[in-house]
Amino acid sequence: HVHFRAPGQEYKEDWNTGSAAAVAGGVTTVLDMPNNNPPIVSVKALEKKRKLVAGTSRVNFGFFIGATSDNAEEIKKAKGFAGIKIYMGASTGDLLVDKRDTLEKFFKEFPETVIAVHAEDNVCINQAAGQYKRLHDPEIHSKIRSAECAYEAVRAALHLAKKYGNRLHVCHVSSGVEVEEIRKFKIANATEHDVRVSCEVTPHHLFLTTDLYGVMGNFVKVNPPLREKSDVAALWKALEDRTIDIIATDHAPHTREEKGEDYWKAPSGVPGVQTSLPLMCDAVNRGEMNLTEVVKYMCVRPAEIFSMKRKGKIEKGYDADFTVVDMDLMKEVRDEDQLTKVGWTPYKGKKLKGWPVMTFVGGVLVYDGTVKDEFAGREVRF
Ligand code: DOR
Ligand code: ZN
Repeated sequence: HVHFRAPGQEYKEDWNTGSAAAVAGGVTTVLDMPNNNPPIVSVKALEKKRKLVAGTSRVNFGFFIGATSDNAEEIKKAKGFAGIKIYMGASTGDLLVDKRDTLEKFFKEFPETVIAVHAEDNVCINQAAGQYKRLHDPEIHSKIRSAECAYEAVRAALHLAKKYGNRLHVCHVSSGVEVEEIRKFKIANATEHDVRVSCEVTPHHLFLTTDLYGVMGNFVKVNPPLREKSDVAALWKALEDRTIDIIATDHAPHTREEKGEDYWKAPSGVPGVQTSLPLMCDAVNRGEMNLTEVVKYMCVRPAEIFSMKRKGKIEKGYDADFTVVDMDLMKEVRDEDQLTKVGWTPYKGKKLKGWPVMTFVGGVLVYDGTVKDEFAGREVRF
């Protein structure tokens, strides 16, 4: 789950820098989001993006198509995309489906397509925003976009998925109340031949909390926002009991200048594609998880959920996408080492043990401590 910003916002990121950050982070495949400029909401826009990215990526890639109030028929004509992204709450960009009947139409008409939701209820957010409109401290972000707003949207999405039997993927769950609702759903529906509902958690929701606003301000403004320690504990527990299916970066770079603006103007999002695997390897070294689980959450299950052909495993007949990690290597995360165009990371100063040291994409060595000039990335087949 990445936002590589092309077309339209290449001053924040492009496929050269984004995919360099990816291979340096041991990532071999990315699924890119449609909130570009213009947004990817038509066959024409999708085809244009395909042409733009082809031959320019060091990692394999797939694309989401975005839902709008009136493009369901258009999406039926599109081919080869990862899933339909539905923003139930407004976030970066102007993609939004906040009308209940439009939302239901997508669930009804696309039972076999992955529907990936950004689940934050727009009415709930707007109501809270009104209450805080005179304040400017970035910490209000977590109050405005509360866990209850996320919970409301998750509940609505699960209700529709149950009604129409969808393949629903809930992006970036961030709170205890959301994972509890998904847990209940999975248990209640476990007897049906397969539960087609999955969810992801981001490293920033696993490792960062609201305490950080004091130091980092808008640099940790992200949607959904950071939560309290109790929510973080609930997310780790949900990984352990498999309520959460995958770990996804939601790499969403914005420039230092943009992040330095007033709270209401600064965009939401943090870079993360280069730091996700080292953070998880470090967690393994600290005994929080084992390496097999990391492989499951970051390779096996993502490939299964999005039905990526020949990916997610080391097996005969599968693509030769490999990452070699040195579990004893200790390094500090530094802004200077970030290959994202924006050149900063919310994990600056963290000392992590366990780093990717070699990355292969389709059998080609693309990183061995330095990023190679190999653009071996191919579009994923779904
Ligand atoms: O914080 C976020 N940033 N959340 C999103 O939903 C979008 C993303 C972005 O594109 O910057
Ligand atoms: Zn995202």
